[in-house]
Amino acid sequence: MADRYLSFTGTAPGRFLTRRLGLPQPAALERGAFSGGLLHLTAGKTVLDLAPVLARTGLGPDDTGRPAAVVLDATGVRDVDALAEVHAALHPVVRSVATSGRVVVLGTPPDPADHHQAAVQQALEGFTRSLGKEIGRGRTVNLVRLADAAHADAGAGAAESTLRFLLSPASAYVSGQVVEVGGAGGAGAPGTDGITAPDDWELPLAGRTALVTGAARGIGAAVARTLAGQGAQVVVLDVPQAEDEARRAAERLGGTALPLDITAGDAGERIAAAVPGGIDVLVHNAGITRDRRLANMPADRWGSVLDVNLASVLRTTDALLAAGAVNRGGRIVATASIAGIAGNAGQTNYGASKAGIVGLVRSLAPRALAGHGVTVNAVAPGFIETRMTAAVPLFIREAGRRMNSLAQGGLPADVAETTAWLAHPASGAVNGQVVRVCGQSLLGA
Ligand code: NAI
Repeated sequence: MADRYLSFTGTAPGRFLTRRLGLPQPAALERGAFSGGLLHLTAGKTVLDLAPVLARTGLGPDDTGRPAAVVLDATGVRDVDALAEVHAALHPVVRSVATSGRVVVLGTPPDPADHHQAAVQQALEGFTRSLGKEIGRGRTVNLVRLADAAHADAGAGAAESTLRFLLSPASAYVSGQVVEVGGAGGAGAPGTDGITAPDDWELPLAGRTALVTGAARGIGAAVARTLAGQGAQVVVLDVPQAEDEARRAAERLGGTALPLDITAGDAGERIAAAVPGGIDVLVHNAGITRDRRLANMPADRWGSVLDVNLASVLRTTDALLAAGAVNRGGRIVATASIAGIAGNAGQTNYGASKAGIVGLVRSLAPRALAGHGVTVNAVAPGFIETRMTAAVPLFIREAGRRMNSLAQGGLPADVAETTAWLAHPASGAVNGQVVRVCGQSLLGA
């Protein structure tokens, strides 16, 4: 399971050889702490007051010429001439961004009523994704669209949790993404308690209850661990066959285990009964694969995947919202997959189920926020180093690992950190988003 190629390219002979042969050059990603500072650049005429938010990221102003992070405020870019300022701002500094560093471009949502603004703001997406593919050395590039950029404080404040995440090592495997803040009713919608910053950025989930499905092992276990590490009381839900594993995981985290098959017709009611104080963070992580090409796929393989990965998510979400079992200010995070975005041979069932999650999230998000004060988002993992991917035959595994801008697989912790950002009390303006944790996979990019 260990990525030996990554270790090899970290040695001097490995670097020499792989460079000579034109092979991928993955850099070991920084998941601990950044040492460099932050460079704040602007293109176009902005009204956004970012300085207070950036000052709180923990990254001081860069004075070394090798920034750990660069933020380019392009919210004021409204015509092609101003796009030249994007080039002018980043061209001289891009080479100097530290290994495993961050570039975050800030824009605004394309305006359906103004095709000039829409053209150039959409241009930022192509720019971001292209820079992500070429920048190398474990560096990431993401675009944040601020729906409220015209309001100096509101726009920046609503984006604080997002900027903190994208400018930190927690987002090591998130690149080439476009995240909208304040869209899908995410800002100023009734019941949103989420835009105010919590008192405690270290333990933002203190006093909150998080339920993670499929949390006995793999990505779900990492999600439960990360949420518990941020102060949440976690409920580790998994199938009754995994009860021992679930109990052990829950004990380590000071939480509780809930042995339950999520496909049970009354799963929602049983969860609500098990969490009488209500759920603040609901993570739909449980998922299965039953791969076969469609021509060879019997109905039961189709049915079980659709039931676990999609139907049970729809059923339990509906039941829990209807019962008022997801508290106001709550967060729902569902698990999609790049297979649901790009498609994958042998996975018509899985791809359908995961694309279904994307549809569910986009449709439910504005209504769940308006009606219940709850946000709904999805993470879409790419190639993550788990038991599931360790079982993939060597050549397919190697291809999966390398076919992304960071030329390596992600870790369960990368999905967990992304989930924690979406689950954050200050992420109330992030709603209806599908965020890939895929190192900018070349599939469906
Ligand atoms: P895993 O197989 O290691 O863990 C899945 C967990 O879900 C297991 O503990 C299992 O017992 C539980 N589970 C399965 N059916 C259940 C049911 N009916 N009720 C309750 N629990 C159930 O899988 P992994 O790799 O940790 O994946 C987690 C999620 O991430 C899944 O939704 C998967 O589709 C998704 N994903 C994983 C990727 C990867 O590279 N590992 C890539 C893209 C998406």
